[in-house]
Amino acid sequence: MAPVGVFDSGVGGLSVLQALRRAMPQARFVYVADSAYSPYGEKTAAFVQARSHAIARFLQTHYGIAALVVACNTATAAAAESLRQDWHSLPLVGVEPAIKPAAQLSRTGHIGVMATRGTVHSARFARLLHDFGQGAHWHVQACDGLAAAIENSTAATLLEDEKIRALCAHYTSALGQFGLKNGQIDTLVLGCTHYVFVRDTLRALLGPDVQLVDTGDAVARQTQRLLGWPQGRADEHEGAPLSPAQHMQLLTTGSLPALQRAAQRWLGLPAGCCAQVQVD
Ligand code: DGL
Repeated sequence: MAPVGVFDSGVGGLSVLQALRRAMPQARFVYVADSAYSPYGEKTAAFVQARSHAIARFLQTHYGIAALVVACNTATAAAAESLRQDWHSLPLVGVEPAIKPAAQLSRTGHIGVMATRGTVHSARFARLLHDFGQGAHWHVQACDGLAAAIENSTAATLLEDEKIRALCAHYTSALGQFGLKNGQIDTLVLGCTHYVFVRDTLRALLGPDVQLVDTGDAVARQTQRLLGWPQGRADEHEGAPLSPAQHMQLLTTGSLPALQRAAQRWLGLPAGCCAQVQVD
């Protein structure tokens, strides 16, 4: 089968790729990290839309992809609708902050959302809250600089890790009080695919009781459904498991060593799976 195309502004979408790989170990994936143009979250919707279309064209032309997973909340908010219009026969899955699951999980009815500026100011996010968020109190925080710090953390310097911790501390305290008591935030939506990689930092700041919600597994299930792969039977799918190099191709418009470090650190993939490309 043709590979599934996946993209993000950078390395954040690797968190979605992890879930896709778990769900479909026999599928092939080609991932584009648009790191030369990241972060998307503080750019205009028109810019993010233009980059999303350029990447979709690139993946379709060079790889004839079977489906496109937009592994970026910001790009989904800015471009999912227009991508669907332009590529109407291509199965497309977007990533959105998990408003509905969080509303179902929360006991206190106070829910935090961390996302990029682009996502929280989008019409799509307003619609999500309107459609699925009624009856809960939503504490929404645009986290300028956090995705960029995570992007840079692939250099794994202590300095970046400290910066990430400081940004997480700043934004979570801006959201309000976390805990299980009345009026406290008991559920936090990770509304940017980069933030999944700082789960441990957030967990250390917020304590063990707060529920952290992301959408990686839901996106993987939806992709399986669209491609007609049997649910929950990944291991029984026909054929021998593919080697990492057959299975995964990771491309970046930015720094190749940075992508290689991220692929190794977060997905255990060898440097040979990665390459640099130009996407205009
Ligand atoms: N990972 C992206 C998201 O899910 C965007 C981060 C950024 O580039 O600002 O929103």
